[in-house]
Amino acid sequence: MFEDLRGFIDYLQDQDEVIRVNAEISPRYEIAAAIKLIAEQNGSVALFNKISGHQGRVVGNLLGAKKRLAMAMGVNEGALSETYLHRRVNPISPSLVESGPVKENILSQNLDILKMIPVLTHHEKDADPYFTTGIIIAKDPETGIRGMGIHRVQVKGPRKVGIFLNSPPLATFLEKSEKQGKPLEIAILLGVDPVCFFSSVIWAPEGIDKLGIAGGLSGSSVSLVRCESIDLEVPARAEFVLEGKVLPNKREPEGPFGESSGYYFTFNNPVAEIQLIMHRNNPVYHALMPFAGEEDVLIDFSWQMENKNLLLSTVPGLKDISLKNMGLITVAQIDKREESDGIRIIEQLFACGVPNKLIITVDEDVDIYNDKDLWWAIATRFQPDQDMIVKSDIPGLGIDPSTRQKESTASGANVLITLTSKVGMDATKPLNNLDKFEKINITPEIRKRVEAILNQTGQRL
Ligand SMILES: Cc1cc2nc3c(=O)[nH]c(=O)nc-3n(C[C@H](O)[C@H](O)[C@H](O)COP(=O)(O)O)c2cc1C
Repeated sequence: MFEDLRGFIDYLQDQDEVIRVNAEISPRYEIAAAIKLIAEQNGSVALFNKISGHQGRVVGNLLGAKKRLAMAMGVNEGALSETYLHRRVNPISPSLVESGPVKENILSQNLDILKMIPVLTHHEKDADPYFTTGIIIAKDPETGIRGMGIHRVQVKGPRKVGIFLNSPPLATFLEKSEKQGKPLEIAILLGVDPVCFFSSVIWAPEGIDKLGIAGGLSGSSVSLVRCESIDLEVPARAEFVLEGKVLPNKREPEGPFGESSGYYFTFNNPVAEIQLIMHRNNPVYHALMPFAGEEDVLIDFSWQMENKNLLLSTVPGLKDISLKNMGLITVAQIDKREESDGIRIIEQLFACGVPNKLIITVDEDVDIYNDKDLWWAIATRFQPDQDMIVKSDIPGLGIDPSTRQKESTASGANVLITLTSKVGMDATKPLNNLDKFEKINITPEIRKRVEAILNQTGQRL
């Protein structure tokens, strides 16, 4: 489909999806602010052609709209979910090739990340420039199986970075390498093809190769080349690859960094040393502005897709789910047969592994993708003293500031434990009083007739 990031950008420009900024602009705060403004005002991709102090271009808000993920997969937005579910179960393994454009420049002497890459500084109190689209690839030190995910990376020095390695599988790999007292070899990818980028954050069980998922979703195998200084393979057409090692049993403050949740976080996090950088000629730096909407596609949509089928087949009465705010809010549409179904389904969803903190169950006459409908159901079908449950001490999301967090060394490695409480709201109709809760309606026939009348008067509906 699209072999690389720059090919997708060319296509998006042809589709009029891109706002081009040709005036000189700084990677320090300015590009990030521009991405946010453009994302908020019209949702376009932002392409910066003249970067202060750097060659090459910067692109942002690439997957800030679901329709662009659909374009990346070669389908209409309406067919995105169905196509995703179909292709997701048909992975295509990556293939190893001799060489590729990522090796056009290979540098290991006098490295200085910030001189070589226009890394953005995003928010006012961020400690340093950060990679926000950095896909970290590593291998399980025990099995050799590859894993990957996006992790925030603080550029702390010419070759030194701090990484928030909290989610599996990378967090588990580090735990295992630390038990062996060895460094963990990593490659940091910046600027890969859009489906590969999206696939890196899919909620996949450990041991599943996300590059295979990417191949399946795009319909063609991802070409990989061997790294130069470590035992890893990386996409041959990536814009940049940084090769390095996470140092064992070393932790340093990393942050503050303005996160996807809208808050600054500082953690005690691992440190890595970069020993080699490869990049294409005239590289494009892929940026992501946290808390500007792109996470709705990357996190909410992908997690929703990954969990939906399993939950629908294992939770009786569940019809559909919609995830919001990084999965912290889940709306569940149910086919209510018993009075207790609303709360029963909430309890089952609490235990499903998504860091959902608020779950709302609604009936089938509520459109769970329409916030107005959802608020209407809560306002009129929910009584707090009867329809609410609260649970405590459940694992939560590390970047939710309202959680309780502590560092633990119980497993032999340094792990961040996050605990939250959860609330469930049953906003379904009581079965013994359905008439009173009938939603007012306009018949489809009248609606169709009136649409035709309005269209005659020149009103486009
Ligand atoms: C924009 C973005 C930023 C992320 N940053 C981090 C991070 O800094 N640290 C982390 O551990 N996980 C981070 N994640 C989540 C991981 O990338 C992870 O891949 C994801 O939770 C699901 O994959 P998994 O099932 O393999 O864990 C981020 C995800 C996204 C979409």
